[in-house]
Amino acid sequence: DCVRIPMDHQLFGAEVSAYRYNGHVFPGIMITSGLIKELQDFQFTPDDIIVASYPKAGTTWVQEIVYMLTHDCLPSDHTSPVLETRFPYLEYPYPGWRSLAGQEGRRWVKTHLPLHLLPHSFTQCGPKLIYISRNPRDTAVSYYYFMQLLTQCSYKGTFSQFIHMFVNDVCMYSPFFSHVLGYWNNRHQPNILFITYEQLHHNPKKVIKEIADFLEISVSPDDIESIRTCTSFTNMTHNTSVNYQHWKEWGFAHKDKGNFLRKGEVGNWKSHLNEEQVLMFEEWEQKHLKNTDLKFIYEE
Ligand code: A3P
Repeated sequence: DCVRIPMDHQLFGAEVSAYRYNGHVFPGIMITSGLIKELQDFQFTPDDIIVASYPKAGTTWVQEIVYMLTHDCLPSDHTSPVLETRFPYLEYPYPGWRSLAGQEGRRWVKTHLPLHLLPHSFTQCGPKLIYISRNPRDTAVSYYYFMQLLTQCSYKGTFSQFIHMFVNDVCMYSPFFSHVLGYWNNRHQPNILFITYEQLHHNPKKVIKEIADFLEISVSPDDIESIRTCTSFTNMTHNTSVNYQHWKEWGFAHKDKGNFLRKGEVGNWKSHLNEEQVLMFEEWEQKHLKNTDLKFIYEE
């Protein structure tokens, strides 16, 4: 089950290719290099901690919270290794699964893989996984800016063209709903914690405590407060270990197309979607949510 998706090359300033593999969209290189299949044999251990998400749901935020929780609640700063070294991205060769494969002891793993495409060892070993979801409208807006920022995409189409791609499920890792629902429907598994960007935004201390309990880490109110402060949007924006500003030096991100940590808001879609576009989202959301008990939060 693997087909190439025709991409409108007018929309990108870079060579972008994508395949639909077992129902989800992946960058061409992951398919043609055989990585997606190789990943099936990646060996998790029960001690690993995974943060999973559909892109732009707040992955980075949760990663840093988890990292602090598992490191005596100590913050990272400009002297710390960058997040992708501390918390590698599974689907990337390096730093990613190759560096993870060589690591002894507990590993911190980020992934955007849908649940059914996680390495087989996930089911066998049962490492703890935290899934963060975000309402599709804010996710789409965040994704739009991200695609412009990344040099390997250099998206140059309009916002309207982008959101059509989003609801037509041709963005990387789409379909959005199948991604989120795959985890939502398995949220009662003891090694899966399902959280949302909106809850974390509304009550960070409560969600930080929930994550701590899930990871079986005891934390004091002061610890929680310290994690909340260190992982606030403003503080993360200024922390070079987590703000991905180095991507600009490495040539991964354009220097003049905004920042990875962009707005950090709930409801930013309201200043982007016109009435017709909101209707398009509403229809799409209703269609996919009608037989589920999943509900998104769209505003603060
Ligand atoms: P925006 O583009 O809406 O600002 P991911 O890490 O999954 O790629 O998600 C990135 C999104 O999460 C961006 O959304 C980013 O600003 C937001 N984000 C990252 N850290 C955050 C924080 N500490 N507080 C609030 N939002 C945060």
